[in-house]
Amino acid sequence: MMWILIIVLGMCGGRAMGWTYHVSTETMNWTMAREWCWINNHTDMVVIQNQEENNHLSTILPDRTASPYYWIGIKKINGNWTWVRTNRTWVGNSSWAPNEPNDRLGEECAEMYVNKGNIQNHGKWNDDMCSNLKYSLCYRGLLWLRHLLPQFPE
Ligand SMILES: *[C@@H]1O[C@H](CO)[C@@H](O)[C@H](O)[C@H]1NC(C)=O
Ligand SMILES: *[C@@H]1O[C@H](CO)[C@@H](O)[C@H](O)[C@H]1NC(C)=O
Ligand SMILES: *[C@@H]1O[C@H](CO)[C@@H](O)[C@H](O)[C@H]1NC(C)=O
Ligand SMILES: *[C@@H]1O[C@H](CO)[C@@H](O)[C@H](O)[C@H]1NC(C)=O
Ligand SMILES: *[C@@H]1O[C@H](CO)[C@@H](O)[C@H](O)[C@H]1NC(C)=O
Repeated sequence: MMWILIIVLGMCGGRAMGWTYHVSTETMNWTMAREWCWINNHTDMVVIQNQEENNHLSTILPDRTASPYYWIGIKKINGNWTWVRTNRTWVGNSSWAPNEPNDRLGEECAEMYVNKGNIQNHGKWNDDMCSNLKYSLCYRGLLWLRHLLPQFPE
């Protein structure tokens, strides 16, 4: 299989300054998607910290007109949606798509819809089975900036 890397765009502003976001061109389950980030020397699967960053991502990511969409680095742990690496539980006010998360049995991973043709869902999250295959979305923080990001210990 070919894992080709696309460097999407660096974010220029706010706390995420100096980050770059990276997506896979192949789909994989959530666990493999996180490993894909590590294997490619990215810091981790994306950790979204606020609504502004979420909006930014939905703007810059390659648009998809249908499933599969992008896995993001948040997973339900002991009943709480928890971000990888930071263990934060921020989910914002309007991050989930309408009627999501529906907490259907086994839906413990989250994807982001990036579908500009579907205004209701564009940039919103959905809970889904971790075994489903989606694109991986990773971030990489610049080394020299990491000391400014105490929430991302190495
Ligand atoms: C990741 O970093 C390691 C250690 O520097 C290097 O050996 C490896 O080739 C890198 N992998 C990729 C996909 O760049
Ligand atoms: C999960 O969240 C609930 C409240 O929503 C809290 O009482 C509980 O301690 C949390 N569990 C963990 C493991 O953080
Ligand atoms: C997050 O939680 C995991 C599992 O409980 C723990 O190993 C890790 O140290 C925690 N990370 C932070 C940054 O608190
Ligand atoms: C959530 O949305 C409500 C209604 O729009 C608003 O009043 C509230 O301030 C928001 N909370 C946060 C944390 O953004
Ligand atoms: C993810 O895929 C790997 C490799 O195919 C497999 O070993 C693993 O069990 C899968 N995990 C889930 C949660 O589907």
